[in-house]
Amino acid sequence: MCGIVGYIGDGIANNVLLEGLKKLEYRGYDSCGIATIVGGTFDVFKTTKRIDGLVQYAKKAPESHIGLGHTRWATHGGVNEKNAHPHISNSKKIAVVHNGIIENYITLREMLKSKGFTFMSDTDTEVISNLIEYYYKGNLLEATKKAVDMVEGSYALGIMCIDEPNEIVVTKRNSPLIVGLGDGENFIASDFSAILKYTNRISVLENDEFAVIEKNGMAFFDKNAEPRGNEIKIIGAKENDVEKNGYDHFMLKEINESTITIKNTLSEYLKDDKIKFDLKLTNEELKNINQIHIVACGTAMHAGLNGKNIIEKLTRIPVNVEVASEFRYKNPILKENDLVIFISQSGETADTIASIELVKEKNIKFISIVNVKESTIDRMSENILYTRAGAEIAVASTKAYVAQVCVIDLFAIYLAQILKTVSDKVLKSLILELKNIHEKVQAALEDDKKYIEYAKKIKDDKSVFFLGRGIDYYIALEASLKLKEISYIHSEATQFGELKHGPIALIEEGTNSIVVSTDKRLRSKVYSNIKEIKARGANVLLITNEKSPQPEFYDDIIELPEVNELFSPIVAIVPLQLVAYHVTILKGLDVDKPRNLAKSVTVE
Ligand code: G6P
Repeated sequence: MCGIVGYIGDGIANNVLLEGLKKLEYRGYDSCGIATIVGGTFDVFKTTKRIDGLVQYAKKAPESHIGLGHTRWATHGGVNEKNAHPHISNSKKIAVVHNGIIENYITLREMLKSKGFTFMSDTDTEVISNLIEYYYKGNLLEATKKAVDMVEGSYALGIMCIDEPNEIVVTKRNSPLIVGLGDGENFIASDFSAILKYTNRISVLENDEFAVIEKNGMAFFDKNAEPRGNEIKIIGAKENDVEKNGYDHFMLKEINESTITIKNTLSEYLKDDKIKFDLKLTNEELKNINQIHIVACGTAMHAGLNGKNIIEKLTRIPVNVEVASEFRYKNPILKENDLVIFISQSGETADTIASIELVKEKNIKFISIVNVKESTIDRMSENILYTRAGAEIAVASTKAYVAQVCVIDLFAIYLAQILKTVSDKVLKSLILELKNIHEKVQAALEDDKKYIEYAKKIKDDKSVFFLGRGIDYYIALEASLKLKEISYIHSEATQFGELKHGPIALIEEGTNSIVVSTDKRLRSKVYSNIKEIKARGANVLLITNEKSPQPEFYDDIIELPEVNELFSPIVAIVPLQLVAYHVTILKGLDVDKPRNLAKSVTVE
């Protein structure tokens, strides 16, 4: 979604801003803009074209050493230049970039109109620049504090003032913002990746805090605008994590990083074949769990469904999986001995964060599975299990899903160990299989030519079915999401047994149907279902770990290495991610940045 980058220092501001915005492109955006201070006025340029539109402008723009840049993902107001950020106040004194949503902007706009302010855009953000101007009496920090005290909603703000041209003021509430410390230069950003090229010395702002960033220093203030200590951390990420490293697209690179992701994630918690988690939950508390709730969004929620399958099978504890945007508003039934597991790649998803707040309020135990260290969810959770996927840039989540599934699988085995619901011998063999699963993923990756051939078959389809039973249905759901989100082909995942209750009406001559079948126990049922759809003209791609199934059950086949169905999502998803990738490339679409989508959904 929206992205912020800001710079103050000896360097050329526009160069840093544009590099930063390029790094933020992956989050998804539909317009962008920059503002610098030049000779006592703002030099502003906005475009609805890609960042390259700004680059053309910046080449001719006058030099400046302070500036703010923004990528906008439209919420309030259409996609046009006047709605793009930065927004400038009426007297052209204040410039603001904003991520988030100002919920009471109509009231604030009316109040400001009654004081004589006029508005040029349809955005909620423009009230902020004018509100700060309204309160400005020579101290930008003070005016910002007064303005945000009036605001309801979420925001990360970067603010410049013509009268104080040597500082940028920042503040945030429920939208991420970091500041980066350089030598003779300092930075602000909504995401580490925007400034990693320049510094890995970072401070993460907490809700309602402020910071004043100057060329040679920065000062932090608490919610009352009283000074607080400066805490700078070194972030371990490396710049080449956010480069394509020879691949044509981030998505392809990231799918191919699945094997290393699995190894890194498992080695974080598997020591001498024993699972070691650093959780502040006693074995007694874990033994007494009544019910588990897994809460997440998108792909992370699909990883949660895999969690339901394995936890229920190994521990017999009931698991309820909810999308966070539903969970937060449904007054969920949570009991004292329940455990909630949150899953998030970015650690910044607004609905997941709100769900955590709710669970904290009710004092229910929870664990968060997160990829991005120092993200909001990481910082608000006492019990954290990290996925070690590294930076994931493509909007469609691939290696992060695989890592999330690995962590949940380990957690299920760990719980079964404590509960003694499965024999030590079986648990040992499960750990061994998981330890070597990267080899099977590698084997699946190597069949890429086959995936390209199948992609050619479906690229012009209007709709594709994904079918499966049990765990294979959960894999189908994730595979269907991958295909639709990047190729724009409508697809739906259906539990194979449910097909007869409606969706089979849509199967006709030539309907491409992708059937996932990794659970041996259900195979004969799946084959009967395949016969039913083939009788109605469907073309079936069968993804299976059965050796040489009868040809009557498929038109095309992807044979997977032998894998325990408890772990099959890790292996079976890879070919389907690659099929989705190739379909999208064949259609000439932007695979890393699909339309309307954002990498981390920081507004609800
Ligand atoms: C967006 C992304 C998905 C992701 C979902 C949840 O929709 O495009 O790839 O699965 O958000 O994000 P999270 O960061 O919480 O895992």
